[in-house]
Amino acid sequence: MTLVDGAEIAKHDSKKSCWIVLDSNVYDVTNFLSKHPGGAAIILKQAGTDATEEFKKYHPLDYVRDLPEGSVVGAINPNTLAKLRKPKEVNAAPAQSADTDKEIPHVSLCVSCPDFERAARAVLPHKSIVYASTSANTGLSLKTNLDDWGRIYFRPRVMRNVGDVDTRRSIFGHSSPYPFYISPMGTLGAIHPEAEPEMVRGAVRKGAHMVVSTASTKTSQQIMQTWVDEQQKLNSASPTRLFYQFYMPVDRKKAIELMQIVKEAGYKGLWMTVDTPVLGKRTADRVLQAEEALAVGIAEEGTVEWESGGENAFAPAMGGRPVSGQLSPHTTWEDLEWMRKEWSGPIVLKGIQCAEDAKLACGYGCDGILLSNHGGRQLHTAPSALMTLLEIRNYCPEIIGKLEIFLDGGLRDGSDVLKALCLGATAVGVGRPFMYALAAYGSQGVERCIDVLAEELSLGMRLLGVTALDQLKPEMVNATRLLNEMWRPESNTLSVKSRL
Ligand SMILES: Cc1cc2nc3c(=O)[nH]c(=O)nc-3n(C[C@H](O)[C@H](O)[C@H](O)COP(=O)(O)O)c2cc1C
Repeated sequence: MTLVDGAEIAKHDSKKSCWIVLDSNVYDVTNFLSKHPGGAAIILKQAGTDATEEFKKYHPLDYVRDLPEGSVVGAINPNTLAKLRKPKEVNAAPAQSADTDKEIPHVSLCVSCPDFERAARAVLPHKSIVYASTSANTGLSLKTNLDDWGRIYFRPRVMRNVGDVDTRRSIFGHSSPYPFYISPMGTLGAIHPEAEPEMVRGAVRKGAHMVVSTASTKTSQQIMQTWVDEQQKLNSASPTRLFYQFYMPVDRKKAIELMQIVKEAGYKGLWMTVDTPVLGKRTADRVLQAEEALAVGIAEEGTVEWESGGENAFAPAMGGRPVSGQLSPHTTWEDLEWMRKEWSGPIVLKGIQCAEDAKLACGYGCDGILLSNHGGRQLHTAPSALMTLLEIRNYCPEIIGKLEIFLDGGLRDGSDVLKALCLGATAVGVGRPFMYALAAYGSQGVERCIDVLAEELSLGMRLLGVTALDQLKPEMVNATRLLNEMWRPESNTLSVKSRL
């Protein structure tokens, strides 16, 4: 391969000619700048430099093979490394960076989920906080997710001998000490230097299940290897199992390849995300991209090209971070047929948002559905998972028990978990609290967050008057307020009388 001098690379540091070094190879990414879903600015900041470390925060290194053909200029001459440019010091929002005045509280001071967010805000750079906390449009879906749990009340029973409680629950036959699991979240390298493996360590030590994102910073094999290594360190086997969140790539060949890799790695189920045919409008992310673009002297260009999702486009993806060619907007229910042939384990559809689709998923033989609006990051004013569960109870109760039903979005307390289970959920996913716990305390924070939720859960069970999760029943909650707002076919047609 041609050897390229560091001084030559340093010259290509602009929008007109942009070269970067990744893992000792030199790439001309000039034509890719406008296609990068994370914005051109983030690459331009690295123009003429060795971008390997920055790249690794967001993607596995082998993603470089997805750069357009002909991008490789050569390999850097190792004797000329010192002649490379240093990355541009650009701080788009100095006033809003991590709150360095604040000390991180001792982990034992985190006694509820929101405490982890406060701790994370003290350590994370502004960019990472934006990534974790951003939501769609005005943020209304995220707010509804959080609020709806508080709009359902318990109807507790008393004098039930609640001395011992059992919080165990199985997901597809894999028993866990808890009826909650860690939701898939992409790009954890932007949150903690050890990224997904560090999350896995915390999960394995406590025995919680975890769903790993397609958009992870580390490869699915590296993440599974951490699971193996961590298991070996323990005296007795941890019940933790890893499941895989699947974004359907545009190219079916790639989809099948990915499924095979994941199967061989030992993941126990495929959670296909179906609420993201294109990326939602992540408002805070958009502002940040524009600020970064202005800071490197370019006005941010439109994202229309990649949002249209053409076959060769670098499709938008995962929590605001790009992954080449993934996230097909063309997926239909019929795709489940060929997927079934390629994947023998359980398939869960992640992102079901109405009773009709829940029923369809059941009819197509899915093993599970996850009622979710992607943490309020996709469709503006999408329903909370709780509202969708109530719809299912009302319009197609016959599917409850035929497939496993999961919920996520806004769960911040063990008692929220209990409410979901009362209404028929198998288990629930928790996202941001684990991300914030990881940011502030690494795997120790993840363990602490599991403990906090587990303690709230067993306390809630005792106060509700149950000793095992299978005793939870719909009549143990009062959902009247939400039921009053539930969609009804007739309610969409205003009668003449009501219009007057
Ligand atoms: C920072 C971040 C990244 C996410 N990345 C993914 C992803 O890669 N794939 C996916 O299916 N869902 C992703 N999600 C959605 C979560 O899996 C989950 O649906 C959501 O976080 C649940 O809401 P909660 O954060 O309020 O608990 C992400 C969510 C966040 C906050």
